[in-house]
Amino acid sequence: MARIVICGSGVYTPPQAISNEELVDSFNSYVRRFNHRHAAEIARDDLAALQESSAEFIEKASGIKSRYVLDREGILDPERMCPRLPARGRDEMSIQCEIGLKAARQAMERGGVATGDIDAVIVSCSNYERPYPAIAVEIQQALEIEGFAFDMNVACSSATFALQTAVDSIYRGNARAVLVVSPEICSGHLNFRDRDSHFIFGDVATAFLVAREDCCRSEHVFEVVATRLLTRYSTNIYNGSGFLDRTRPPQEEAGRLFVQEGRKVFKEVVPIATELIRSQLQENGLAPGDIRRAWLHQANLNMNQLIAKKLLGGNVSEDVTPTILDTYANTASAGSVICFHKHHEDLRAEDIGILCSFGAGYSVGSAILRKLVSP
Ligand code: COA
Repeated sequence: MARIVICGSGVYTPPQAISNEELVDSFNSYVRRFNHRHAAEIARDDLAALQESSAEFIEKASGIKSRYVLDREGILDPERMCPRLPARGRDEMSIQCEIGLKAARQAMERGGVATGDIDAVIVSCSNYERPYPAIAVEIQQALEIEGFAFDMNVACSSATFALQTAVDSIYRGNARAVLVVSPEICSGHLNFRDRDSHFIFGDVATAFLVAREDCCRSEHVFEVVATRLLTRYSTNIYNGSGFLDRTRPPQEEAGRLFVQEGRKVFKEVVPIATELIRSQLQENGLAPGDIRRAWLHQANLNMNQLIAKKLLGGNVSEDVTPTILDTYANTASAGSVICFHKHHEDLRAEDIGILCSFGAGYSVGSAILRKLVSP
């Protein structure tokens, strides 16, 4: 059996960005307007005054300095605080297909896999602009790929879960190459009026190709040595919106958006992810010190530093655990893939890397990758 490899990746970065300062300016002007409008209730203690946000807090607590978004104007308008992404008709391309295709074409070009050798497309991300038809089938048609396509959702771990699904399909002989696409429009589910989380997410699309080694012609090929997935139920990262909404009394907008207990998530997920990586390495005859690079989930810089420290001891350099969340923020399932995309070309043959995501579910997905000698 030929080895199964990741042989090409792509990232579509939206052209618009928002710095912490710009986001906080807009949030604070919303807070001042709200407190002014409700001054009487606040004075009577019938309503709590809203508190302002701070750019210093955001950077210190999360490591985020800026984020890319599909619509800056709508988000920064204090009377709106939500991106404006007009509906598209049935005869128009969906937004997720459009941005997913940009990343997918890049991954296909870099992977050197012939379109005819790709047998499946998996779109795997945290939110979908419609339940069906699958965005994956739309992308499949646009790229003229034969075979099958489907959408799946494991929130922040969507890409690593799709990686294992792709590997399994190839291993079973059901596909020669699989295209995995993660169009993450996180600004769509982020509550920009919530001080605790308004700064967390950004938008992006990523893609990568998983293939039988003999199907790809690329300079940078990584054998998928092992994959490992884990889930444990928690509502500490939660989005309660769903197709039954119309059967219930209308709820406040906040109830339909992302919400989390950030501190609990931090505390509970760090040991789960660390242990999963540690045991996975051990099962594969590797030690943490063998890790040349860890492309970790990009939610919080302090979280990644702690995981790296627990695994590797001491202070771990940016060279071993590179960061992209400073400029992209949390992009859910796409974060570790962006990190891989931007930081893999310098690795040498036989170098070991870990691609690891963690988040809602809880879910953790990890893959051990080994760089192969260029053909
Ligand atoms: N500006 C200024 N102060 C803020 C603030 C803001 N935007 N948001 C919260 N604060 C305040 C809080 O009110 C609190 O004040 P207090 O100490 O007086 O009570 C203080 O800052 C600490 O708040 P806390 O929520 O405990 O911060 P934190 O250090 O836990 O950082 C996160 C918050 C969200 C950055 C962090 O918990 C995190 O990233 N967790 C992991 C989340 C994760 O991985 N999620 C996956 C999602 S896909």
